[in-house]
Amino acid sequence: MSSMQMINTDKLPRHIAIIMDGNGRWAQEKGENRLFGHFHGVESVRSVVEGAAEIGIQYLTLYAFSTENWDRPATEVQGLMELLVSTIRKEVPTLNKNNIQLQVIGDTSMLPLNAIAELKEAIRETQANTGLRLVMALSYSSRWEIIQAVKSIGVAVESGQLSSAAITQQVFEEHLTTAGIPDPELMIRTSGEFRVSNFLLYQLAYAELYFTETLWPDFRKEHLYEAIVDFQRRERRFGKTGEQLKAEDL
Ligand code: IPE
Ligand code: IPE
Ligand code: MG
Repeated sequence: MSSMQMINTDKLPRHIAIIMDGNGRWAQEKGENRLFGHFHGVESVRSVVEGAAEIGIQYLTLYAFSTENWDRPATEVQGLMELLVSTIRKEVPTLNKNNIQLQVIGDTSMLPLNAIAELKEAIRETQANTGLRLVMALSYSSRWEIIQAVKSIGVAVESGQLSSAAITQQVFEEHLTTAGIPDPELMIRTSGEFRVSNFLLYQLAYAELYFTETLWPDFRKEHLYEAIVDFQRRERRFGKTGEQLKAEDL
């Protein structure tokens, strides 16, 4: 039986987040430069987005570029930005065909002007789509996001719109870039690294973590389905006991 057939479609995670890692090593293994790996990573993005849409995942967040990635060599950063612009331009018709809505989280003001323009246009052209929401984390880091949220809450308190006593988890979440998006139930990281690298630190509080040795350019929708099957075998307890959960199921 294929992984896809093993998935229980009544128990799908609503939101899957992926740290797409290992492009550089994939290229280096082949004696190529790192950009070659990023270029091939786009094929994996296509396959995974298509795969997620096909089985009815509602939200897919892809970590494409972190705040810290700006410190990479200038040629790599520039190559990644060019790849971003050309990919968005090419992919919009496919997003529309598959009813996928694009959203971006991160400090996009840091991006080159042509990338900002392409993103804005792609978001506008896909905004009426009602299927999968594809959230690209670009120039994103969780600490940046949390500080942004704290600042904007500070402004609301200073102006008298909000009292500090009224700050709840819900209020805080409304000030995050992910406002309105449910927390990821499943977080996947490729390339055998066991860390979170400043990704959705608040939102991943109760996510199931799935790590695979597969390097991102080799990752396809079948690997996504394997991760979902693994996720569905786990018992998510949210601090309760296994016995309590069984009693609730009855
Ligand atoms: C992930 O692959 C893509 C980005 C971070 C932009 P890497 O470029 O980090 O590849 P490795 O981890 O060096 O192999
Ligand atoms: C995390 O990968 C960021 C993205 C995948 C965009 P990195 O390759 O930058 O993470 P570290 O440096 O290995 O933690
Ligand atoms: Mg990496």
